[in-house]
Amino acid sequence: MSAHKNIYIGMLGCGVVGSQVAALLEKNNAELSTRAGAKLILKKIAVRDIKAAREGINQSLFTTDAQSVIDDSEIDIIIEVMGGIDPARELILAAIKNGKSVITANKALLALHGADLFTAADNKGVDLYYEAAVAGAIPIIRPMRESLVGDQITRVMGIVNGTTNYILTKMDEEGRAFADVLKEAQSLGYAEADPTADVEGIDAASKAAIIAGLAFHSRVSVDDVYREGISSITADDVAVAKTMNHVIKLLAIAELTSDDRISVRVHPTLIPRSHPLAAVRNAFNAVFVEAKSAGQLMFYGPGAGGAPTASAILGDVVAVARHRVSDSVGPRESDYADRAIAPIGDTKTQFLIRLNVADKPGVLAAIAQVFAKEGVSIQTVRQSGRGNDAELIVVSHGATEEALSSTVSALSKMDIVTKVESVLRVLGSQS
Ligand code: HSE
Repeated sequence: MSAHKNIYIGMLGCGVVGSQVAALLEKNNAELSTRAGAKLILKKIAVRDIKAAREGINQSLFTTDAQSVIDDSEIDIIIEVMGGIDPARELILAAIKNGKSVITANKALLALHGADLFTAADNKGVDLYYEAAVAGAIPIIRPMRESLVGDQITRVMGIVNGTTNYILTKMDEEGRAFADVLKEAQSLGYAEADPTADVEGIDAASKAAIIAGLAFHSRVSVDDVYREGISSITADDVAVAKTMNHVIKLLAIAELTSDDRISVRVHPTLIPRSHPLAAVRNAFNAVFVEAKSAGQLMFYGPGAGGAPTASAILGDVVAVARHRVSDSVGPRESDYADRAIAPIGDTKTQFLIRLNVADKPGVLAAIAQVFAKEGVSIQTVRQSGRGNDAELIVVSHGATEEALSSTVSALSKMDIVTKVESVLRVLGSQS
C-alpha cells in the first residue's frame, strides 16, 4: 500500500459495539487502510473502567481521560460509541472545535441536538457521520443522503427497533401475551432489564426524527415525533389483525402531507401480510422508502449488535478517512426545505376500532351515526361474538386523528358501548 499519510483515530467508549470496532479495525487493518488511502491507526480509547476485560484489544490504548483523546492533536477522527446525551454532546462539540471529524452511533443525541452538532461540523468544515445511528448495519443514511438525493422521497416507513419487532413476531406467531413474551425476551437477553426505551417507542422515535430530517431536508427533533409504544397491544388485537390477514408492527413513519408538511410518528400499525415489511421477523430491521421516481425500495438487515453496528461505523471510518486524505468533506446535512411539522391531529390514516357493545337491534345504526357525525367514513364492520360477548370491529377509511379521537370519545359515552377495547392504525389509504 502506498499510503501518503497516517490517519489517527480516537474512540469514546468500548462496550459491545466499540470493542468490535477496535477488533475489526485491528484484524482488517491492511485492507481498510488500502481502501481509505491512508494507514488507519487506533490511537486512544476512552473508557470508564480501564480494568474491564476487553479481549484482543491492546491495553495500552485505554485511558479514563476522554478529554485527552479529544485534545490529542494527532487524532483526526473521533468515534463516539459511549451513548447518552452528556458528556457525549460536549465531547463531540469539543472534538469538532478541535478540527476532528466525528463518527457517532448515538441516535438519541442526534435526534435531540442534531441541529447544533451538524451546524458546528459545517462551520468547522469537518464530517459528522452516523450510519450506525439508524438500523445498525443497514445502509440507510448514505442511500438517503446520496443515492436518492436526485429523487423526491415521499414516505419512509421503518421497523427500526429489534426488541419490539421480536416481541410482536412472537405474539403473532405464537398467540402469546405481550408481558409473557417480554419476560422471555428479557431472560434471553433480547430485551433490556428496563425495556421502556424500546417498548414505548422512544428508541424508534429518535430514529424517526433522523430519518424525517434526512428525507425531507429539514431539521426534525425527537420532540416533533408523535409516539405510541407496543405495551398496550393485546393478544386479541394480534388475533383480530390475523383474521384480516394483517400483522401488527411498530412502524416509524415519516411522510409528506398533501400540503408539504412533515408527519413523523411511531406507533403500532396493522400492515397487510402481503406488504414487504410484514415479512420482517424477529429482531431484524427494515426501512421501506417511497420516492417519486424510484418507486418503492426496501433496506433490510440486522439493526443492532456489536459486529453489525461496527460494520456501519467502519464504513464511515473509511469514508471519512478518504475525505481527510483528499482534504475534503462529505455532503453537508441539508435543511434548506425547512418544512413545518404537521401536528398529529392533522395526520390522516385508516383506523381499526374494537368495541364491546350491547347485542340488540339498532346498535349498529346508532354507532354508524356517530362516525357519520364526525365525518369518519366506514370501510368495513364486522361483528364477532353474541350477547354480552359481542364485539364490533370497525375499519375506517382515511380520517384525521382529530376526527377519530372525537369519534372514540363520543362512542365511549354511549350506553350501548360497554368498552372501546382498542384503537389501532391500519396501513392503507389516506382518503
Ligand atoms: N435497542 C435497539 C433495538 C437497538 O432493540 O433495536 C439500538 O437502537
